[in-house]
Amino acid sequence: MKARLAQKVLTKLTHGLPRHCKIKPPTRPGSQRLRKIHGRMDEALFFAGMAGQMGAPDAYRTADLQARVRRHFPDLMAGLQAVYPQAPAVAGRAAQVIGRNLAERPAELLALDLERIHTPDWFQQPHMHGYIAYADRFAGTLKGVGQHIGYLKELGIRYLHLMPLLLPREGENDGGYAVADYRQVRPDLGSMEDLEALCTQLRHEGISLCLDLVLNHVAREHPWAQAARRGDPRYRAYFYIYPDRTLPDAFERTLPEVFPDFAPGNFTWDEELQGWVWTTFNRWQWDVNWSNPEVFLEYLDLILWLANKGVEVFRLDAIAFTWKRLGTHCQNQPEVHALTQALRAAVRIAAPAVAFKAEAIVAPEDLIAYLGSGKHYGKVSELAYHNTLMVQIWSSLASRDTRLFTQALRRFPQKPPSTAWATYLRCHDDIGWAISDTDAAAVGLSGPAHRRFLSDFYRGEFPGSFARGLHFQENPATGDRRTSGSAASLAGLEAALESGNPRLINLAIERILLAHAVFIGYGEGIPLIYMGDELGMLNDYDYAQEPAHQDDNRWLHRPRMDWAKAQKRHQEGTVEHRIFHGIKGLLQARARIPQMHAAFPTQALWQPNPHLLLLRREHPQGRLVQVYNFSEQDQPFPFEALQQEGIVQPFDQITQAPAPAYLGPYARLWLTQRPV
Ligand code: GLC
Repeated sequence: MKARLAQKVLTKLTHGLPRHCKIKPPTRPGSQRLRKIHGRMDEALFFAGMAGQMGAPDAYRTADLQARVRRHFPDLMAGLQAVYPQAPAVAGRAAQVIGRNLAERPAELLALDLERIHTPDWFQQPHMHGYIAYADRFAGTLKGVGQHIGYLKELGIRYLHLMPLLLPREGENDGGYAVADYRQVRPDLGSMEDLEALCTQLRHEGISLCLDLVLNHVAREHPWAQAARRGDPRYRAYFYIYPDRTLPDAFERTLPEVFPDFAPGNFTWDEELQGWVWTTFNRWQWDVNWSNPEVFLEYLDLILWLANKGVEVFRLDAIAFTWKRLGTHCQNQPEVHALTQALRAAVRIAAPAVAFKAEAIVAPEDLIAYLGSGKHYGKVSELAYHNTLMVQIWSSLASRDTRLFTQALRRFPQKPPSTAWATYLRCHDDIGWAISDTDAAAVGLSGPAHRRFLSDFYRGEFPGSFARGLHFQENPATGDRRTSGSAASLAGLEAALESGNPRLINLAIERILLAHAVFIGYGEGIPLIYMGDELGMLNDYDYAQEPAHQDDNRWLHRPRMDWAKAQKRHQEGTVEHRIFHGIKGLLQARARIPQMHAAFPTQALWQPNPHLLLLRREHPQGRLVQVYNFSEQDQPFPFEALQQEGIVQPFDQITQAPAPAYLGPYARLWLTQRPV
């Protein structure tokens, strides 16, 4: 009886599909096979829903897609079930979205999918080096970016993150993070065809394009928000809208403020809505409601549509904020990870060449979940930003002391081996001084005092500071004070050039190179060079002249590329030449060192000299120990510590020469045992 029923359902589901798509019926009632098929009923339905959108795939393609569904459907379903009571129906709709996009996926990208299925560690390989730029500030337009691929290749770049380029709202738009239309390119940058052409051009040069997927909010001008403002109930349900202050006030009790200066509070009254709408960031960035499955389906469709244009990595912007829960700070909620798992599983089926990068600037204990922990282990984003590493580099440069750095890294949770960090020194955002009180106390410091020291230091207010930066979003209620500024200005180059003192200029350059060596050499992921840092570009004080930027001093470190300055990289003896070739040399060394593969963990080593940072990378081809001098004084070479690590004849892989007898100011060495 049961067997007949199962057979009937299967026939219905697979009706109209080619013969090889059909799943065989069970043989005996109550048999092992029947139970299995019952367990896989949704899987079959899912496959049928997907295949129904695709015409008649041939036998090979069917087998491939069936294998993908078998592998990822359970993860998709588990993710959906954790958030949506109507999960099976959502899965059914997702199947159609996937099928429709699969049917449109260009042949070249299908080939890339296949390649990536066979090279799942493509983003972990030692040659994966990233570059972050605003398309307009780097090259005017998308076509312009295409004309500068040679420059990126010269540096050794294999991954390009172009900052928000989809159509933003007019006027203030948070650097493009207030998107009015995800299916249109900003007209001054070009068209969707230009984006597609650029993706292809980059791909042919071995460079993967990363794009922001702003999934926590849309602009008040986005069609969903417009429809909500017109009173359409379908679209009102895409947002969090409250008729009065009761719930907003209840939420506010535990919510922090992201931009207390220019966007206090987390809710905005909107006349047209006649309601308070949730706006975590600016009042014109409306948080979308991910508890509504329609939102999930919209974003899934969008991801796959953009993936079909050739986008290979999606930076999941502000992902930590995407689920709200009363009585919490509404970040890092478990549902965020369930949703990411569902999205990722769907994308693995539809476009396996694509990877996710989580932008979660949160505490280490919360951060690790974005690369997968517990039941989501290995099932969420492939990449996430290593904010702690960035903060600790700046902290040790200011204090010339690495004990807090070593402590923080040793307490840092280990990531799943199939994932990678995005490591960086600067990006388009401010630096939040995320020093943990526990780590600070463990090395005899006060967390709040050290955070204050760092913000004073990088504002250039601390006596003897080399830095030039600005305070960002000072919050008197919490004492929080973040920092804006370019890497070179924060590392002392601006002040040194003003002084004209060659010794100070030299130290600033060495400091910049040391900082780069640490995040490039860290090795658990893709190092990201922030546009202009490879030339030592300074703060851009002109931002204050632009009305749309003047209230947001993060524009201090979002300069326009200075191509005349870039030319000086060819001229020996210039600052640009030293920094560019210093960084390029580090990237070249990294690409040839097998120990830099991101699957292998990095461990910070305790040793007696507080000015030195030692990092160990264990690898079947031998151990690599990195030595960094965070002071402007010479330091003795740590022979003993190296010996304890079994490196008795240390050989520096950056310069490809035996290690020196002492460490000069800001020295950086990547040491292995001398090759025989
Ligand atoms: C991310 C971006 C930041 C933006 C915010 C809101 O944190 O990096 O620039 O302001 O999201 O979209």
